[in-house]
Amino acid sequence: MKTHKILLTGAGGQIGIELTARLREKYGRDAVLATDVQVSPVLEADGPFELLNVTDGAALEALFARFKPTQVYHLASLLSATSERKPQLAWEVNVNGLLLVLEACKVHRARLFWPSSIAVFGPNTPRIMTPQRTVIDPSTIYGIGKLTGERWCAYYKAKHGLDVRSLRYPGLISYAAFPGGGTTDYAVDIFFQAVQQGTYTCYLGPDTALPMMYMDDAIRGTLELMEAPVDALKTEEGYNFAALSFTPAELARAIQAQMPGFAMDYRLDERQAIADSWPASIDDREARSEWGWKPKFDLPAIVSTMLEGVSRKLAAEAR
Ligand code: SER
Repeated sequence: MKTHKILLTGAGGQIGIELTARLREKYGRDAVLATDVQVSPVLEADGPFELLNVTDGAALEALFARFKPTQVYHLASLLSATSERKPQLAWEVNVNGLLLVLEACKVHRARLFWPSSIAVFGPNTPRIMTPQRTVIDPSTIYGIGKLTGERWCAYYKAKHGLDVRSLRYPGLISYAAFPGGGTTDYAVDIFFQAVQQGTYTCYLGPDTALPMMYMDDAIRGTLELMEAPVDALKTEEGYNFAALSFTPAELARAIQAQMPGFAMDYRLDERQAIADSWPASIDDREARSEWGWKPKFDLPAIVSTMLEGVSRKLAAEAR
């Protein structure tokens, strides 16, 4: 079996915490180097961890030269709402950071995973069952960065033969680590508020449908894409990647079915405009046919797993 050496950036984020744990289980703790711009006690406790700012090209190159990764998961980025508040920093981290990682992966012949997003789409994209290839006119800085990143990845693949793979993640639902600064975060916050106080004030309107996915599905899909034979992958940009779509009102009803006293009200903020520019549902037939993608978690399964997981997490923190 080929020996893997796996490097993650942004490993302390919502995806990184769970992906690092899964990769360490699979390939052994010493084969997986987790990095983040902030110290993460969870990651440090479970295996090698280093501080890394992905906009520091010299530090990045030194780390590649020392660790010699065969695979890189470049997750460091600012999410959509934070990017609107700090556009220059978002560009520096989300796009210029990616360019440094692409160049290092080219030099060291490492396979790269880079997350794109449903945010790559914009107001003129067909909103229902958005196809893989369509009008792509993102109106947020985060989305413009994702479109730019997808084109840079495709360029490195065509020009330098870099093996770079990418998914357009929908909103991801999990309880191990908070997303923070995203537009789809309500679908995580709601469970913490439901367990702690039985109510939630939602910043998106009741009928705002968005594509969503449970984290276990997202991690499994990410690993399946990274393990797929290179010849099977015909799509050069980030793959549309879907599980289910729901509105805040539908999520509240699904929680009420398992927690009858739960109540939700609404106070919209600037994230509504971001959500309105994104698809309501995604057609991911290329992912399904090219590398066999299939989600497992439906809404009732997500709700029961989250209510149980959040309760356990909060109880452990209170001890
Ligand atoms: N979930 C992300 C966000 O809301 C989109 O990729 O910013």
